[in-house]
Amino acid sequence: MTTSDHSAKLARFGVSMERNLLDGFDRLIAAKGYANRSEAIRDLVRGELVRRSWTNLKAKRVAVLALVYDHEHSDLLHRLTHVQHEHGDLIVSSLHVHLDCDNCLEVLTLKGPASRIERLAEQMLSIRGVKYGQLMRATTGKDL
Ligand code: NI
Repeated sequence: MTTSDHSAKLARFGVSMERNLLDGFDRLIAAKGYANRSEAIRDLVRGELVRRSWTNLKAKRVAVLALVYDHEHSDLLHRLTHVQHEHGDLIVSSLHVHLDCDNCLEVLTLKGPASRIERLAEQMLSIRGVKYGQLMRATTGKDL
């Protein structure tokens, strides 16, 4: 794609906001390393649209679930395995990294109805012994 093709699809609009809000935004985008305000605003809008698109809970979605847990914690491995077998059709792939003597990192790629992905994440994150967990809701951009 040439630059002119790309810019032909761009639309411009003006934004008004309070000076102190803009100062805070400029500090934020500098800290994050954005080249300019436009790029930062595009990312904010994309993020919000992805969040909104997840509210259609029957739609097929893709997500990544990361968990850190202590594998010595009693019953934890059994529970984690049990939940994963119950929802085996949602799990596209999984990765296990032994972080140190006690801790493991597990990363699951999930694909299926948003409601089931959310439920699986809640079940796994609430298991005792899970120290950290994060569900990253992804999108192809086609549904935005
Ligand atoms: Ni491990």
